[in-house]
Amino acid sequence: MKSPSNSSPVRIGIIGGGLMGREAASALARWFTLVDYPVRAVLIAVCDLQPGLLDWFRQVPTVKHLDTNHRDLLKRDDVDVVYVAVPHHLHEEIYLDVLRAGKDLFAEKPFGIDLAASRRIRDEAVKLGRFVRVSSEFPFLPGVHRAWTLAASGSLGRIIEARCAFLHSSDLDPTKPINWKRQAKYCGEIGVMGDLGMHVTHVPLRLGWKPASVYAQLQKIYPTRPDGKGGTAACDTWDNATLHCTAPIAGHPTPLTLEMKRLAPTETNTWIFEVLGTDRGVRFSTKEPKTFWTYRRDKEQWWEKTDLGFGTPFKTITGGIFEPGFPDILQQMWAAFIAERAGLLGDKFGCATPDEAVAHHEIWAAALVSNQGQKVVSL
Ligand SMILES: NC(=O)c1ccc[n+]([C@@H]2O[C@H](COP(=O)([O-])OP(=O)(O)OC[C@H]3O[C@@H](n4cnc5c(N)ncnc54)[C@H](O)[C@@H]3O)[C@@H](O)[C@H]2O)c1
Repeated sequence: MKSPSNSSPVRIGIIGGGLMGREAASALARWFTLVDYPVRAVLIAVCDLQPGLLDWFRQVPTVKHLDTNHRDLLKRDDVDVVYVAVPHHLHEEIYLDVLRAGKDLFAEKPFGIDLAASRRIRDEAVKLGRFVRVSSEFPFLPGVHRAWTLAASGSLGRIIEARCAFLHSSDLDPTKPINWKRQAKYCGEIGVMGDLGMHVTHVPLRLGWKPASVYAQLQKIYPTRPDGKGGTAACDTWDNATLHCTAPIAGHPTPLTLEMKRLAPTETNTWIFEVLGTDRGVRFSTKEPKTFWTYRRDKEQWWEKTDLGFGTPFKTITGGIFEPGFPDILQQMWAAFIAERAGLLGDKFGCATPDEAVAHHEIWAAALVSNQGQKVVSL
């Protein structure tokens, strides 16, 4: 493999230096922890509207430019790739500006506020020939990667059913002040599906399990929240979504349940994937991040438990017996993005594609229609 020190680095700019912008900076700042990895990546420029937030990035030695207008960042010749992590109502405008500035794009989910926006972004990327991928980090967790590999192997027999869920509970506190993620004009009418949905659909879509129909149960549980200024504000996004889908798997219509919940008691950031087949099955949850369950059918039927270590797709300095966490899988996702852009991904799992992002929006658009009419909707 080529030594990273012999190649010129990919120069990254970040637009949106909030929660995820800073996580991206952390992943890039530790690039030297990747072992035998072929490409260097460095964070060069950051843009956020809030000058106070930009100050945090002064700690990152490679950062040369701090901008408060994203168009200033996009004019910079020393930026090759732009990662954008801003509220959903700004995705389309800023993603299109990135593409038209001749930069490659690492986009945050949900890739546009709605289906129409996602299609316009995807189509512009194709027209301009830019490399674009969408952020979705869970497949880079060893347990998820193992579950995907097993599900894709064909060894499960006929798939009986599958469930993918992503559950949060921080919104159970009704005194939590409102933010943009709880308001439809910023987050999108699809609410929690835009917020958590890429995480539950990335693996099934990559397996080719595309829903053919959906029956959606959408819930708004707290209609108002404190506005943070002593009053209350309407909380008009969907809090919880349970989608009962039918997906053709190996030619058989198969139940596929997709759950996205902001009010799921006791769950912090729980990602779940369960597939039951006639011969074998798999179950993984971030609630037990080291524990990988597989089911097999013999004379009797068995659930077997394996303890996982640091078996990430891209090798790092961290020893094999240790446990990976959220910052590690974000770095792995970045490593997959940079490797695929360089044509060096090989057979490793790649980041979500614009087509997958559009496909996930198609499910949410159908879910809104289903919930409104309380009916099954074909996709
Ligand atoms: N992959 C994940 O696990 C994950 C987790 C959380 C959020 N997200 C996604 O990341 C994106 C951002 O979410 P977040 O939690 O980081 O939000 P955030 O509110 O913490 O940060 C957004 C930042 O964007 C900045 N901003 C707003 N308008 C801007 C503009 N015109 N130019 C430059 N900066 C601007 C804000 O000042 C803020 O600092 C969303 O698309 C969200 O869905 C992904």
